[in-house]
Amino acid sequence: MVKVIRTINELTNITNQLKQANETIGFVPTMGYLHEGHTTLMEECKKYADTLIVSIFVNPLQFGPNEDFERYPRDEKRDQTIAMEHDVDYLFMPSVDEMYPGNDIITLHVTDRVDVLCGKSRPNHFDGVVTVLTKLFHLTRADYVCFGLKDAQQVAVVKGLIDSFNFTLKIIAVPTVREMDGLAKSSRNVYLSDKERHEATYLFKALKEAKQLMIDGEKNPVMIKEKVKKYIKHHTNGEIDYVDILTFPSLDTVETIDQQIIIAVAVQFTKARLIDNIIVDHS
Ligand code: PAJ
Repeated sequence: MVKVIRTINELTNITNQLKQANETIGFVPTMGYLHEGHTTLMEECKKYADTLIVSIFVNPLQFGPNEDFERYPRDEKRDQTIAMEHDVDYLFMPSVDEMYPGNDIITLHVTDRVDVLCGKSRPNHFDGVVTVLTKLFHLTRADYVCFGLKDAQQVAVVKGLIDSFNFTLKIIAVPTVREMDGLAKSSRNVYLSDKERHEATYLFKALKEAKQLMIDGEKNPVMIKEKVKKYIKHHTNGEIDYVDILTFPSLDTVETIDQQIIIAVAVQFTKARLIDNIIVDHS
């Protein structure tokens, strides 16, 4: 049976009890509107820890002024049912006031791995992500945290957060969960029109084309990026935000492909901006 927790006080009481009982704690942070991507993280986390805490919090700090904070999809009832079906022990669903009562005097600022990919077009997004995660890591007292590689830059930044501030928890990065036709599962997919939903499948197809080029021996990232852009332009009406190839997880520029790299894309459709990536090891 999942227990819903709304206050920090209640959560800290519970995590203190769990620690006293020597239970290991697994934690999956989410913004809700749960889908199979999220539930896969929950299942993975359960393998490592005795107790599973999931948070649902649409974090205003990580949304820019013109982004979709207000209309980010929310469905608490449905999320609670899904959490129950997936053996979640505690569901932490705080209000914005509970998380940010307005008395914070320190903010966090990410200085590396954020001037590329989504960080480039979403200034301060990752500052908001690491701020909320720092609070949540402390509150949940997690031993294991699971993150999806769908948001690979987030994984790279969270690894940096853990190293920079010596969190003792272990991060587990889980491969992207996809629809049957390859589209990466996302809470934002509901905002695609039928036509766009079809076009969106070409993001992953483009990434697979890029991977094939590398397998066939292409080592020049510029060539590959150009082909991916052309492919996406040909098959969709979305507007390409970026197509990039970088080292992973340090997210540095690549001259020639001879190491572990990420190929990442972001495409803006009418009401949803979709991201996808694949990580290829050429070391
Ligand atoms: P959210 O977008 O809800 O995602 C929560 C977690 O689910 C993230 O680790 C994300 O990478 C993972 N996830 C989403 N779709 C996935 C998919 N198709 N396959 C695998 N994993 C997937 O990411 C956030 O929330 C927020 O930034 C958060 C970390 C909660 C901080 O506010």
